[in-house]
Amino acid sequence: MKRRDFLTFLGVSGIMATLPSDLLAKAKQSPLPSLEPGKIDKLMTVEGISSKVLIRWGDRLNSEEKFGFNNDYIAFHSLEKDKGILWVNHEYVDPKFIKGYERSKENIDLEMKEVGGSLLEIELKNGSWTMVADSSYNRRLDACTRIPFAWDEPIGGSDSAMGTLSNCAGGFTPWGTILTCEENYDMFYGDVDRKGNQITRSEMQWNKFYPENRPQHYGWVVEVNPQTGKAKKLISLGRCAHECAAVTRGKNGRIVAYTGDDTINEHLYKFISDTNDSLERGKLYVANLEKGEWISLQLDENPILKKHFKSQTEIQIFTREAAKLVGATPLDRPEDIEFDPLTGNVLVSLTNNKPAGNYYGKILKVVESDPTSLKFQHDTFLAGGKEIGFACPDNLVFDRKGNLWFTSDMSDRDMHQGPYAGLGNNVLFVFVRSGEQAGKVIRVAQAPIDAEFTGPCFAPDYKTLFLSVQHPGEGGTLDKPTSTWPDGGIPKSSVVMLSGPTLDRIVEGRT
Ligand code: FEO
Ligand code: CA
Ligand code: CA
Repeated sequence: MKRRDFLTFLGVSGIMATLPSDLLAKAKQSPLPSLEPGKIDKLMTVEGISSKVLIRWGDRLNSEEKFGFNNDYIAFHSLEKDKGILWVNHEYVDPKFIKGYERSKENIDLEMKEVGGSLLEIELKNGSWTMVADSSYNRRLDACTRIPFAWDEPIGGSDSAMGTLSNCAGGFTPWGTILTCEENYDMFYGDVDRKGNQITRSEMQWNKFYPENRPQHYGWVVEVNPQTGKAKKLISLGRCAHECAAVTRGKNGRIVAYTGDDTINEHLYKFISDTNDSLERGKLYVANLEKGEWISLQLDENPILKKHFKSQTEIQIFTREAAKLVGATPLDRPEDIEFDPLTGNVLVSLTNNKPAGNYYGKILKVVESDPTSLKFQHDTFLAGGKEIGFACPDNLVFDRKGNLWFTSDMSDRDMHQGPYAGLGNNVLFVFVRSGEQAGKVIRVAQAPIDAEFTGPCFAPDYKTLFLSVQHPGEGGTLDKPTSTWPDGGIPKSSVVMLSGPTLDRIVEGRT
């Protein structure tokens, strides 16, 4: 460990090292509480933090639209004081909870209304956020919403797509828009390769009734204006199982976006914009970790690509094929990406690679002199394992003191068994970065049966952490539900709000 990293790890770098009051506070802190691993159908929170449901699957957003299924990524868009708009992703849909597994047009049409995203206005009243029931901001984007491609040439024979789907994690831009990422798009319309061969069959068979919706129309990063609901698909960032898109600026003002392809042995990408205020035009690169280089995916910059691809548009659509041709490093399922506020490093969750015997995953650290740099170094930031008590890191969010809050994603089939025995249900952790307890991993909250926490997002004042509880009871049947969270009936994915003195204490650095 380098000296600078060691000091950062101890939380004594930069401003914090110069504040005597912080040092004084550190000396007085009692140990932070942490949950014990468990296997119960409750949302458990550590002492000093409570949870409250904000909105659940099926709740009305307005007279015509409802909150969708399997909520995931959450972004907070500030309006006036104590008011904001939440964007919430709806990743996929479990047919058993809608109308059943029969692949009829009626069932599929209902399912198409359940994915995409929700926009809802919220306001802070008496210290707690609530939805503004009649707000004109409340609306849905779903698998039927017509969305244009931000590109000069047609994509899969069309200049727009019917809908957005598989909306997993996301990001936000400096100009106030939200990025929602289409991850496992092939489950709805299958996938094809560059030569038109089918490489994945559609599990949900939506293509049966909508064959004009080509697989090439999905697998993009979608930019949404949270105030108007207007959206566009960003062809510039390439097409793959995009988990997220983390946006920052280079020293020269250029916009840079990092995005991971969450599939075993797929890759990490970086996009450098041509401008300071848009993601529509620029260059896409893919990471080669062995060389520590970002490799260009520009047709005119790489003879190998010129040999295999007819156009830049073809590279953007079949990004994975291009990445492999230029020597991209296969990774263990890159999930969420965040920028470490204490060091500026780029952190990437590599959740697991079970076929390769990597069950616990890790958080990778990418070190660059500037976001526009084409060279980097990398190292492990934090590794999962039985001893440290976490496996399969997924969504990441930093608080204002640089503590890293992260969720685990053990699948419902894997939980409590084999390498995951004793780790309990899925968890929200915080990795403490400063004070006497720096380096500790605290179990803050534990999800109900079969559920995963996703989309952690702080309110602007850091007094509330919004969190998605996704797919409770996914492993059960309607007759034999494995979860009845949150209301004692059919399990419902929901957004919850965590708050309380222990949360305040951590985000204020009294650790
Ligand atoms: Fe939808 Fe990779 O998580
Ligand atoms: Ca995920
Ligand atoms: Ca994620």
